[in-house]
Amino acid sequence: MRLDIISIFPEYFAPLGVSLIGKARERGTLDVRVHQLRDWAHDVHKTVDDTPYGGGPGMVMKPEVWGEAIDDVIGDGGPRMIVPTPSGRPFTQELAQELAGEEWLLFACGRYEGIDSRVMAEYGSRLRVDEVSIGDYVLAGGEVAVLVMVEAIGRLLPGVLGNVRSAVDDSFAPGAMRNLLEGPVYTKPPVWRGHEVPEVLLSGHHGKVARWRRDQALRRTVATRPELLAEIDAETLDKHDRRLLDELAFRVPPEDVAN
Ligand code: ADE
Repeated sequence: MRLDIISIFPEYFAPLGVSLIGKARERGTLDVRVHQLRDWAHDVHKTVDDTPYGGGPGMVMKPEVWGEAIDDVIGDGGPRMIVPTPSGRPFTQELAQELAGEEWLLFACGRYEGIDSRVMAEYGSRLRVDEVSIGDYVLAGGEVAVLVMVEAIGRLLPGVLGNVRSAVDDSFAPGAMRNLLEGPVYTKPPVWRGHEVPEVLLSGHHGKVARWRRDQALRRTVATRPELLAEIDAETLDKHDRRLLDELAFRVPPEDVAN
């Protein structure tokens, strides 16, 4: 997969040389190219922003600089373009999966009050452009959001995760554990500062371990993200799940009227 990132702070992307993503780049699974937007600014000050039409605080990134930068980076090609912004569509595991299936992504990092909207209009008519938010909070710019997205997408690429099962077990991955948060995990020693590892995990009984893990996932989801569980496909809940949720006073749709 090829990834182009355009930003006025290329230094932000140093972490992409580290760990799983760094190794994927060394192997050639990922071809990451980071570009300095100011290279396409022509005045002595390398200006990339200006005051907003209509007034108001802050500055807006100029369309001409972005246009030249994107034209040069994409050439005759057609990457999928992602613009991080708090007003975008939510970045979810589902979107990460979808983007992991693309051959080429271009990330355009805005700073200040954002990029002149005509840039998205212009490239929206030639490329697939998505404005994407990583959460309901406001960062100082799109760079950190791009780091988050690249890590989430990169680890889904074939051969990037050492253990293929790790991605399958994710809280938000499709499949049986979808919409359930993962429960607690433990390693050796069996007792640490008086805290014991739950007995069942030492039992070697795979069925009981799986059931215990599912109970923990249900409990944790009810406690911290009940709205996720409210969205769960009722058909994926077995009798034991229903009994536990009943004990926790969490109401799920009855089996026979599930839509
Ligand atoms: N830029 C600033 N805040 C952001 C957010 N929450 N998501 C994506 N890009 C952003």
